[in-house]
Order: sequence, then C-alpha cells, then structure tokens
Amino acid sequence: MGATQQGSASADDLEAHRRFLNRYYRLTRPIYDVSRKYYLLGRDRLLDDLAREDWTTLVEIGPGTGRNLRKLSVSKPDAVLGGVEPCDEMLEHARARLPRAHLMHGFAETADYAELLGQPIERVMFSYSLSMIGAKGDALDAAYAALAPGGEVVVVDFADLQGLPGLAGRGLRRWLGWFHVTPLDPAPLVERSAVITYGPGRYYLIGRIRKPGG
Ligand SMILES: C[S@@+](CC[C@H](N)C(=O)[O-])C[C@H]1O[C@@H](n2cnc3c(N)ncnc32)[C@H](O)[C@@H]1O
Repeated sequence: MGATQQGSASADDLEAHRRFLNRYYRLTRPIYDVSRKYYLLGRDRLLDDLAREDWTTLVEIGPGTGRNLRKLSVSKPDAVLGGVEPCDEMLEHARARLPRAHLMHGFAETADYAELLGQPIERVMFSYSLSMIGAKGDALDAAYAALAPGGEVVVVDFADLQGLPGLAGRGLRRWLGWFHVTPLDPAPLVERSAVITYGPGRYYLIGRIRKPGG
C-alpha cells in the first residue's frame, strides 16, 4: 500500500503494508532512534506540550521503537500508555522496552482500540505515522471514535515544506519518497476541524482535533 493512497484499505492492502513494514524496519530498526532524531522534527515540541497538559491516558498510533512513549512515561509517571503497531519487528522491540505499556498489533484504519487501556482514552497521538498510512480519513475517524469526551487526537508530521528553498524542498521530497513517505496533505485534518500550527519552514505541522464534552 503506497503512502499516498486514500479511501478504505482492503485486508490484502493491509497485509501487503505489514510485509513492507517488516522488511523495511528489520533493516532500519537498529539505527532508527539515532538517525530519526535529525529529521523527525517537532516530536519533542509536541511531547513537551503533552507533558504540561492534564490527561492520564494516551494511545500512540505507530509507536515504532517506543521512543515517544518512553519519554512520556518519564515526564508523566502516572500516565497509562498504549500503542497500536502493525510492524511485528517494531512491536516486539517496543514491548521489550516498555513492559508496562499496553501495546497491540493492528492498523490505524481498522483496529478497535477503544478498550485497549481498560479506561477512557484522553489522547490519541500520531507521530510521523499518518504520512505512512493509506486511508488517513479512516485512521483519524477511528481515533476520534476511541476518544473520551473532551479528549484530543494529536498529530505531528511532515508539512508541505513550502518555506524551504526550492532545491532543498524538492530534494527532501524525493528522499522521503524512497522510504514510501509523502509529506502530509492537511486536507483530512482540515475536514475534521483540526487546529493546525506549523514548524519553521513549514517542515512539520502539529494538528489537534478536540472532541467536545468532558
Ligand atoms: C516514521 S515511524 C514513527 C515512529 C514513532 N511514532 C516516532 O515518532 O518515532 C512510523 C510508524 O508508523 C507505523 N505505521 C505505518 N503504517 C501504519 C498503519 N497503517 N497503522 C498504524 N501504524 C502504522 C510504522 O510501523 C512505524 O512504527
């Protein structure tokens, strides 16, 4: 399944995506945290914001190595954390690293994770996972459905890079394409009334969709 695909994903699409992720991350997982530090920007800004907010329960979609959940477990020791991860290689690593977290195998588009933590979910976080997900609308709708009233879906991901000089922006897009990643089209966020802020050079965006109530 290509990262630009929209609409609903079939079971065959998802299984092919799982095979791709397993092949890809089997090779890159050992150097993942060190290498991504330099280009998955905005993650720590979002984690700092989340650390200051009042919530107890959070599920990350596509936690990968568990790097973000580990940081949150330090800044919020009482938090109940979970994750939904389709890559077997990443899931196994994250489970070993975060034995207290509630981690399940699944795809953002189809997983039913409302009961994953055994209590209402106050934050669902997508950190550089939405740009890899085919059916982005389905993934955002599933996250919103799993949220407690007053909760938020929070997204950090590549933006349109428009503030970067032409050559740098084009080169970065081409390079990301080699890894099946396309900068995020904000339309699925805008359609769901997300509040969006951009990082320097529009390199990344942070989107938040709040569920009324609570
Ligand atoms: C670029 S990594 C980001 C990992 C981590 N969130 C971070 O910020 O370091 C993307 C993650 O999204 C996961 N992913 C890809 N497609 C997904 C899908 N359809 N549903 C849920 N997660 C997915 C990948 O397996 C991977 O763990």
